[in-house]
Amino acid sequence: MRRSSDLSPEIAEESAWWLDAVFYQVYVRSFADSNGDGVGDLDGIRSRLGYLELLGVDALWLTPFYRSPMADHGYDVSDPRDVDPLFGDLAAFDRLVADAHEHNIRVTVDLVPNHTSNQHIWFQQALASPPGSPERARYIFREGRGYDGSQPPNNWPSIFGGPAWTRVADGQWYLHLFAPQQPDLNWEHPEVRQDLEQTLRFWLDRGVDGFRIDVAHGMAKPDGLPDMELHPGSSSAVLVDDADDPRFDNEGVHDIHRMIRKVMDGYPGTMAVGEIWVKDDQRFAQYVRPDELHLGFNFRLVEASYDADSIRSAIEHSLGAVAGIAPATWTLSNHDVVRHVTRYGDGAAGVQRARAMALVELALPGVIYLYNGEELGLPNVELPDWALQDPTWERSGRTERGRDGCRVPIPWEGGTPPFGFSTTANTWLPQPNEWGGFTAEAQLEDPGSMLSLYREALEHRKTNPAFAGDELEWYGAPPGCFAFRRKGGGLICALNTSGASVPLPPGQVLLSSGPMDGDQLPPDTAVWLV
Ligand code: GLC
Repeated sequence: MRRSSDLSPEIAEESAWWLDAVFYQVYVRSFADSNGDGVGDLDGIRSRLGYLELLGVDALWLTPFYRSPMADHGYDVSDPRDVDPLFGDLAAFDRLVADAHEHNIRVTVDLVPNHTSNQHIWFQQALASPPGSPERARYIFREGRGYDGSQPPNNWPSIFGGPAWTRVADGQWYLHLFAPQQPDLNWEHPEVRQDLEQTLRFWLDRGVDGFRIDVAHGMAKPDGLPDMELHPGSSSAVLVDDADDPRFDNEGVHDIHRMIRKVMDGYPGTMAVGEIWVKDDQRFAQYVRPDELHLGFNFRLVEASYDADSIRSAIEHSLGAVAGIAPATWTLSNHDVVRHVTRYGDGAAGVQRARAMALVELALPGVIYLYNGEELGLPNVELPDWALQDPTWERSGRTERGRDGCRVPIPWEGGTPPFGFSTTANTWLPQPNEWGGFTAEAQLEDPGSMLSLYREALEHRKTNPAFAGDELEWYGAPPGCFAFRRKGGGLICALNTSGASVPLPPGQVLLSSGPMDGDQLPPDTAVWLV
């Protein structure tokens, strides 16, 4: 079993290192391509560790790199204990973990326990076996409705559009909350649990520092699989968090998280964060009870519109939900949502607001999850129809464009595609020709760049005692603005989302997202004061 003593001595000592860590999500396909096939890979990530260290992140979250037919770009796993040849091999993974640890960066990996690929050996066996066979019992097979069974067993839509059921040759149907190539596992089956335990140990023994659990509010299904109340939005987003949605947040899920926690407790210094699209604060909190997950992704900041009141409410809910139980987590973007520069209005205004929101996020107590490219200020990309690959596009009858626009490969250097991402310009998603100004190279030495803002902010967050403490105190502020103070260390953060400059709170400016207007805080600007 690996111990944290395999890490360099400076970071090995803190066993709860993740309590205020800054994680960096690497969307593996799009980060760096080492072998010129146009798709990012593990050796590509390894070649950019120097950059990540310079940026100042503590840990990586790698999206799935396991064997997969890539129907959902790796979230359809056919072997969870091997590396897909597209991304490298187990030796490349070991090299990456070793080198990341040398750079004092921890490595966490994504686990996909809700479903497998339809190419997984278990599902292939299930298809080859008759209804009622033990092979089918690892998945959720049912008879259809209607006199000839030609109607799906219930009315659940898939998150990617269309019904959540697909019929097989002998007439039975199987459940897939996502694409048909992602059959849901039956979590009542003991072998399903044992297999996840084996997967956890496999990667922990290889030295990973933790996991991100995909669809951590899924897995358990309600007895009898009752119909759901359908409304617009039931099918079109991963973001469904309706309390009445029987597909998610069922009681049985907590027992699964207790099993995961038990395994992890045998590996001190490791952690698990769940993807939890559950809005109710009390229900959310249940996932981070002391014997369940260490952390839960709270998506309120992602869902908040750009105005001071919504952002403040998102912050208060996120903190309130986990107060006294676990650290809060903060995310502005990930591989499933429109990049925040674009959500906040795109263009110059989007960038200015994204800069302000970076300072708001990085002032907050708890754990930060950055998404690769946000530190470069990348906007979402309007891709042409021919380039779209997200299953949502076809499943929705080409009405929902899906998530490809936030997954375009990272521009590293140079003035034309592939911008140092690869040696081929034929990257898996095309990069916009005009991305030259966004490259890491173009921004590194420019003190006014988004990258410099992130580097400086992360440096303060790590070293300045003003960031101590878990609690916030809110000041009175003009409409469209807020200001809070970290109760422990005293850092003050003020944000102005209104249309006019407002007086600065008292204190000395430590960092600002844009120029100050004398002693006034201009619109779309945030400032840190001590
Ligand atoms: C999660 C992932 C998403 C994936 C889905 C199915 O929501 O973040 O990218 O498509 O699960 O695994």
